[in-house]
Amino acid sequence: MIDKISAQIKNKIGNKQPKTAIILGSGLGKIADELTDKTIIKYEDIEGFPQSSVSGHAGQLVIGRLEGVEILCMQGRVHLYEGHKPQSIDLIIKSFKKLGIEYLIVTNAAGSLDINMPAGSLMLIKDHINFSGQNPLVGVNDDKSGPRFPDLSNAYDHDIRNIVKNTAKKEDIKLYEGVYLMVLGPNFETAAEIKAFRILGADAVGMSTVPEVVSAVHSGMKVLGFSVITNLGTGMRDGKQSHEETLHEGKKASQNLINLLKAYIKETKNG
Ligand code: HPA
Repeated sequence: MIDKISAQIKNKIGNKQPKTAIILGSGLGKIADELTDKTIIKYEDIEGFPQSSVSGHAGQLVIGRLEGVEILCMQGRVHLYEGHKPQSIDLIIKSFKKLGIEYLIVTNAAGSLDINMPAGSLMLIKDHINFSGQNPLVGVNDDKSGPRFPDLSNAYDHDIRNIVKNTAKKEDIKLYEGVYLMVLGPNFETAAEIKAFRILGADAVGMSTVPEVVSAVHSGMKVLGFSVITNLGTGMRDGKQSHEETLHEGKKASQNLINLLKAYIKETKNG
């Protein structure tokens, strides 16, 4: 199936050869609009490709140029809370690898566990806690894809993070750095859970990203990750949590992320 999916994408993009893939989170789809010379492929037009069903997640691949560099954008992600098997996420990432992707940039909308990192902040992910209880690598391991017991000690590549931190400084973009904790969802957390996650050492909480990163590291890709903070965690402020707020705040805060990604890609010419 990996070969079948990558062959269909290859067929549609012709001689484009992106080395960087960007997965766009809730309210962050706008980044794909910045690409020039675009080829758009709807997930439903790729046989075997998992379908995304959340509003605010478009469900298409957009392949084009950002700052002159060829990029593959996944506009609309596949979440475990939709009922997808974690292995479906592995299938997507391994198909990208087969296509020649070497760098994966993951983005997400997340709740903050730090009162000093308010809605609208941009957080560089330095590490994660997999609290989802699931893993995309469960099952028979294909040793040609990667090792049975992959090492995650440098999952969010240290050198790439340093480059991005310097770029952010140069561009005068405030960039927090912290640990992302993944819950399965789809409910927002209780106040007690938010307190517990803070004690565990997390700075932000969300319902995605970890499966993609585990799969990418397994296949030897270098990973860069960002959380756009759309709200404070439950119990850290008055009022209810809502997906509408996530989308709204995500859209607002995404301009900083777009500017940072453009500057970074311009600087490194890769991802
Ligand atoms: N919790 C989990 N996922 C999220 C949140 C949150 O508070 N905000 C955006 N995605």
